[in-house]
Amino acid sequence: MAAVVFSNIGELTTNDPTVGDESAMGRIKNGALIVDDGRVVWAGAQRDAPSADTEIDVEGSAIIPGFVDSHTHLVFAGERSAEFASRMAGEKYDGGGIMNTVSATRSASTEVLRSTTQVRLDALRAHGVTTVEIKSGYDLTIQGEFRLCELASEFSEETTFLGAHVVPDEFRERRDDYVSLVAGEMLTRCAPIVRWADVFCDQGAFSVDEARHILSRAKSTGLGVRLHGNQLGHTGGIALAVELDAASVDHCTFSSSADVEALAGSNTVATLLPGAEFSTKSPYPSGRHLLDAGVSIALATDCNPGTSYVTNMGLIIALGVREMGLSVDEALYAATMGGAQALRRPDIGHLRQGAKADLAILNVSSAAHFAYQPGASLVRAVHIGGESPAFWG
Ligand code: NIG
Ligand code: FE
Repeated sequence: MAAVVFSNIGELTTNDPTVGDESAMGRIKNGALIVDDGRVVWAGAQRDAPSADTEIDVEGSAIIPGFVDSHTHLVFAGERSAEFASRMAGEKYDGGGIMNTVSATRSASTEVLRSTTQVRLDALRAHGVTTVEIKSGYDLTIQGEFRLCELASEFSEETTFLGAHVVPDEFRERRDDYVSLVAGEMLTRCAPIVRWADVFCDQGAFSVDEARHILSRAKSTGLGVRLHGNQLGHTGGIALAVELDAASVDHCTFSSSADVEALAGSNTVATLLPGAEFSTKSPYPSGRHLLDAGVSIALATDCNPGTSYVTNMGLIIALGVREMGLSVDEALYAATMGGAQALRRPDIGHLRQGAKADLAILNVSSAAHFAYQPGASLVRAVHIGGESPAFWG
């Protein structure tokens, strides 16, 4: 394959501390980047750039590693704007609306689910996302969860079985049977086609013991584990995630000092989802406090119809900066390297030599604009493995 040089990059963010300004962001002003066979082969100053077969002159634009959105529920039908409006008027989120999306999703055709997922994925891409994790969880039957896992795997390698989203209405009087079903037949059916298992471990969803049972079974079938924890209260999800060596515990809206200490000494990333706090009027957790304590953090959209109908990573970065105490660079790092760590993917989230050539070319000269122009369309093009699937001009 022919080598391609991206030239005249106003600001190149590599997340490689050995190049450029030698900060964690590995920033190079007036840079160039060479990609060959889908991998980064060289990054440095424009004046030192070796020649390549093809040149893409980005005319002073900034380039960043593509965003790694490590938490989405992209496959669903229907919408819940009325619930959003009630919450803005004071109603509390308790997970109760999930069954509304389950009903709509169960009755949607596979064709409709496929085309609406594609629309959401295109929106994520247009805002710079090059890797997306996609969960099941809006059917809650064996065949239906399998259908959602299959659909998710048409769009991403980072797929997650979330049969334990809530106990469906038909099992309300026999929740133990549902936990056994998820940890048994449903997991057995879905595990061969996904990479991860997740449980919503919280008030109104699954207890720590139930989540431990399901995720231990998932681990023994060879899946990686992650969990929704501490979104609605101090419910023990963070401690369980650390106990299970989960790749990530997501939300962390509430955390105790023991939780933070446990996370800091672990390989578990705290994935912050400010779209959910925005959309449920919850307090934002302090990203600043977590980072200062030595916790690795990620930022993700949590795109779902209930608590965060957000496909714009730039907006998530802006909320991370404005509401969670992160600097602009810390938020950018959390949305790239942090997401990659939360998916245990050493090949993405940065543009070091050998990395997968996943990158976003911006229409501005610095990545700081993601927080400075919250919600704006700042991405000219994304390249995934060096290929350009779309160009927005
Ligand atoms: O990440 N908290 C659990 N799951 C989703 C919301 C699901 C829904 O309300 O549809 C979340 O917030
Ligand atoms: Fe979620």
